[in-house]
Amino acid sequence: MSYWKDKHILVTGGASFISSHLVDKLVAQGAVVRVADDLSSGTLQNLEQSISQIDFREGDLRDRSFTRDVMQNVEVVFHLAACHGGRGFIDTHPADCASNMVLDGIVFDEALRAGVDRVAFSSSACVYPVTHQIAPVNGNTIYLREAWADPFKEGCAFADGEYGWAKLMGELTLQAYYKQYGLKSVACRFFTAYGERENETHAVIALIAKAFIEMDPYEIWGNGQQDRNFTYVGDIVDGMMLAAEHIEDASPVNIGTAEHIKIIDLVHKIFEITGFQPNELFFDTTKPVGVFSRAADLTEARQHLNWEPQVSVEEGLKRTIEWYYATHDVTTVAEKLGVLLTER
Ligand SMILES: NC(=O)c1ccc[n+]([C@@H]2O[C@H](COP(=O)([O-])OP(=O)(O)OC[C@H]3O[C@@H](n4cnc5c(N)ncnc54)[C@H](O)[C@@H]3O)[C@@H](O)[C@H]2O)c1
Repeated sequence: MSYWKDKHILVTGGASFISSHLVDKLVAQGAVVRVADDLSSGTLQNLEQSISQIDFREGDLRDRSFTRDVMQNVEVVFHLAACHGGRGFIDTHPADCASNMVLDGIVFDEALRAGVDRVAFSSSACVYPVTHQIAPVNGNTIYLREAWADPFKEGCAFADGEYGWAKLMGELTLQAYYKQYGLKSVACRFFTAYGERENETHAVIALIAKAFIEMDPYEIWGNGQQDRNFTYVGDIVDGMMLAAEHIEDASPVNIGTAEHIKIIDLVHKIFEITGFQPNELFFDTTKPVGVFSRAADLTEARQHLNWEPQVSVEEGLKRTIEWYYATHDVTTVAEKLGVLLTER
């Protein structure tokens, strides 16, 4: 029997890209699911599959009375609500990202007061020191290890922007609540998720959208040499559910692949699958691109969760492109692309 059967779960931000997939999976495994979301970027459409089987509450979790209310009779909190987006969003909305510290603080405090059994937090690879996310040194690429981001260790706190710092402070808060009150939790450090329901502020969807509207010259932010470990959303959800089940001491765990994929190689895979081939590529080096290189070390995830990403980037891209092409309209995307790339 599934660990989740009949468990009372709260998913914060449950109408979002990743969270809605989590909600679908929890419902499928027999959990009793409540979603709290202010729909600032999430949509009810994302929850279409499960909406009739969940308790959906609309509200802002920075409002303590709303949060106190939605925590009632909850055993496990999956906290994924955040002001967040891809690089085009987080670099242009620093104050919004910093406000996540208020949001996380209230959610964790109300979880403690309500006596929930455990909290699983969607942290991020952005907690890692940017100094570790550089071009390969002597040909050796770097795999980020959990111990390298730690506010209590000298040299281990140099997060990626306001968004990364807020996630690191969210982790620190959970560690403090575990030390002082024994509140069980885990911080899941997600890496570069992609898949169905994601928006165009994230690189994979932005690049698919540009192929969809047949942009030519085809614009790529940066010189195309940066790499990321693109991780399919279904794998992220599986990893987070296992982490919530198996880690209780507020430790962080990486949920992402150990594969470095250059943006230019991702672009060629997208051209191959969509059949679109522009005459010219235009590398816009004035646009935000984030750190140079990012992939996860999976030692902890393998050891504690027996988890490993299952979906190859080719397969994940195929599914995502199929979904994007079936659910979007060329004229609308072409008209709004400028806004879509930076506003969630
Ligand atoms: N997508 C990624 O690659 C990635 C990587 C690392 C971490 N994460 C984290 O995973 C989580 C989910 O990511 P996503 O891409 O699905 O994010 P998203 O931005 O689409 O989702 C955030 C959700 O929270 C809701 N929300 C925001 N502020 C709220 C508030 N004050 N009260 C109530 N609801 C609120 C939004 O409406 C939305 O549904 C986020 O915490 C994000 O920081 C995502």
